[in-house]
Amino acid sequence: MNILIVGSGGREHALAWKVSKSSRVGKVYVTPGNAGTAREPKVTNIAISSDDILGLMRFAKGYNIDLTIIGPEVPLVLGITDFFVNAGLRCFGPSKAAAKLEGSKTFMKEFLVRHSIPTARYQSFTNAKVAESFIRKMGTPIVIKADGLAAGKGVIIARSEQEAIDSVHCMLSGSDFGEAGRKIVIEEFLNGEEASFIVLTDGKHIIPFASSQDHKAVANGDIGPNTGGMGAYSPAPIITREMHDRIMTDIISPTVRGMAEENHHYFGFLYAGLMIGTDGPKVLEYNCRLGDPETQPLIMRLRSDLVELCEAAIDGRLCEFEINWDPRPALGVVMTAAGYPGSYRKGDVITGLPCDPRELASESKLFHSGTLETVSGEVVTNGGRVFCATALGSSISKAQTLAYELANRVHWDGVYYRTDIGYRAIERAI
Ligand code: AMP
Ligand code: GLY
Repeated sequence: MNILIVGSGGREHALAWKVSKSSRVGKVYVTPGNAGTAREPKVTNIAISSDDILGLMRFAKGYNIDLTIIGPEVPLVLGITDFFVNAGLRCFGPSKAAAKLEGSKTFMKEFLVRHSIPTARYQSFTNAKVAESFIRKMGTPIVIKADGLAAGKGVIIARSEQEAIDSVHCMLSGSDFGEAGRKIVIEEFLNGEEASFIVLTDGKHIIPFASSQDHKAVANGDIGPNTGGMGAYSPAPIITREMHDRIMTDIISPTVRGMAEENHHYFGFLYAGLMIGTDGPKVLEYNCRLGDPETQPLIMRLRSDLVELCEAAIDGRLCEFEINWDPRPALGVVMTAAGYPGSYRKGDVITGLPCDPRELASESKLFHSGTLETVSGEVVTNGGRVFCATALGSSISKAQTLAYELANRVHWDGVYYRTDIGYRAIERAI
């Protein structure tokens, strides 16, 4: 089989690495990929951007692609699955209508309310004056969200009324997030601990993945501005067996059922960002894809064949499938360019990369994100998040030690990473 992975991040490197190990897979193409995917055996990068749907379709037809797996949200929200399926191509990911769960926060919140799925109280606005009076009524802290896609940056947790009102103006005027912010959601601030709950579904049957947790804030202690994710681990100890069952019953099953009832069969990966508070789990957000960096530790733990899983979902045979996980925990440390999540430099030469993957213990893997191989064969930084150093361990502390050993080998001018990834899980394990 030939497989196409759409995207260029650490999540896509992990997906390409995993599917390339399936005995059924001949070639894996990644569009556009990064220096890490370029160096994997059986894997080839093709310079087509993730949102060039017609270009991707032409490629999939021309190269006899048997299965396409979509990494990021943008092509899904643009409807790539509908285009591929209409052209007779097998594509794993939700339709445009179903991807609206991520593409529009207002759609997502209205859907949750219609189906009595627990989430923060909220209201949507397009008018700043009306939004201001809502803020005054609700008090602070309060959460302001751009309705549309904003690359994980469209959420402001306002501690003062003035900050909230300023954010409303910046979003609604279009100055901060363009069209994505012309409509906003304002919602109550929820206390608790966050967890990522990812499932794979064919629209009817649901296979929950192992639980995971990421660290969104840029600095140690979960302090500072939010990023796309500075590190992640699996499992998340906060998701006990009982909590898992509650999430499935109260949140995931009604979501998949509700989407089917509304004729938007949800098919693909579904990621619920949850806040686990004293009154139970509530949905913060839905993503119509796998998480990055959650995917990297999850893929290290996944023993089942991912291609078989996706094929079973496409053929509606998911009920026959049992997913197997390595019982050992895994943890990934994201390494970033200086300045991220603000502006950062590209093009710094990276040293210390393992030349041969066999140099590393089989428990460790350096997944690339924003990297590029130059014509002279050097690997340089090419994004804010540059790597995710990931490892399996007999305990979460051991996984953390191995992941940091790997991260410490790799250098470039301005490299930054948090030094406390996994601290919550480690505290709970003690
Ligand atoms: P979202 O993209 O909606 O998940 O929001 C990004 C991040 O903002 C989340 O991962 C949380 O850390 C935080 N956040 C979002 N909504 C809330 C809320 N209602 N209460 C507290 N924190 C929130
Ligand atoms: N790690 C958060 C996300 O993928 O949205």
